[in-house]
Amino acid sequence: MSHICLVCSECGASHNADMHTLECTGCGAPLDVQYDHDDIHTVRSAGFDMPVPYHSDFPGVTMGEGNTPVVPLPRIAASLVAGDLYGKLEFMNPTGSFKDRGTATMLSVAVEHGVAEVVEDSSGNAGASVSAYSARAGIEAHVFAPSSAPVAKLGQIRVYEAQTHAVPGPREASTDAAVEFQRGNSLVYASHNLSPYFVEGTKTFAYEVAAQVSPPPDHIVIPVGNGSLLLGCWTGFSELLARREITRMPRLHAIQAEAVMPIAAAFAGEEWSPGASTLAGGIAVGSPPRKNQVLRAVRGSGGVALAVSDDSIVHWQKRLAALEGIFAEPTSAAAFAGIDAMLEQGHIERDESVLAAITGFGLKDALPE
Ligand SMILES: Cc1ncc(COP(=O)(O)O)c(C=O)c1O
Ligand SMILES: [Zn+2]
Repeated sequence: MSHICLVCSECGASHNADMHTLECTGCGAPLDVQYDHDDIHTVRSAGFDMPVPYHSDFPGVTMGEGNTPVVPLPRIAASLVAGDLYGKLEFMNPTGSFKDRGTATMLSVAVEHGVAEVVEDSSGNAGASVSAYSARAGIEAHVFAPSSAPVAKLGQIRVYEAQTHAVPGPREASTDAAVEFQRGNSLVYASHNLSPYFVEGTKTFAYEVAAQVSPPPDHIVIPVGNGSLLLGCWTGFSELLARREITRMPRLHAIQAEAVMPIAAAFAGEEWSPGASTLAGGIAVGSPPRKNQVLRAVRGSGGVALAVSDDSIVHWQKRLAALEGIFAEPTSAAAFAGIDAMLEQGHIERDESVLAAITGFGLKDALPE
């Protein structure tokens, strides 16, 4: 008996919790963790009781992920004529990005299921995270990444001795190759895009924000590709709201790159088709499987989804370093380009509080000129 089941994000159909079911057997949509409230298992997270999909009192595979600092960004705030502005330094996670939150949970469940070998595809950060945590868990990892991924990210995946498969062509070619390999070898597909446990793991971000910023910020701004961190925020804050630990949901804003903006376009009711490329590789996801779910979370929280140019991303990457001493990768700097645009467009009032997720470290990507 498990204390959880997996429920379809679109039609609500229930599935047994295992490591193989990643999509609804009825409609094909991604699945989410749902808890059995008579048999719930919780751990302490940032001072709150938090339901988790594994059975132990801490993640079975852990490197102290999470509990990242929140720092004020007064010089950026002044330059934007904005109110209180905070950055949550997600690059201080063990592999340098927020992905470790999701990976620790996903692989902790995998270990409980006796999984020995996993397959993953990634533009870099999730691959590095899965490789590192797999090494620690004694799991063999096969990571498929575009051969065009930043050298530092590919090198990071390799250093943990994951079986690294560099795949030529667009990002989607890595997914296709991973799925073919996984099916051909009957392995577990530990996809950070699809795994219900990965998305569930990212909710610790919301628990920490609730403990670190009081009252919680009016706005949380997140660079979004598949939307795992944004969905984790939605889940975490929803749980805290239901238990009256907080009194309102922060507005969750999804920032995409203009070249790859399926969620921002859908939010605006516009057509969009893939074509151009962006240097914000972490959010270059042309068809995110959880798109509808992300749109519901953005709208449900009163947030917006919008796209920013590569020029503004580079501009804000440099500003963040020069004004606050924080070196983020371009993907992460997109959050600040988004804040700038939202202040201009009136989505954020100049006296409201804002927290940006600074999702990945600058040295992981090509250096700005
Ligand atoms: C640094 C960084 N920020 C943000 C994201 C976006 O995360 P998600 O695809 O879960 O929306 C990624 C994903 O690769 C990333 O690497
Ligand atoms: Zn379904």
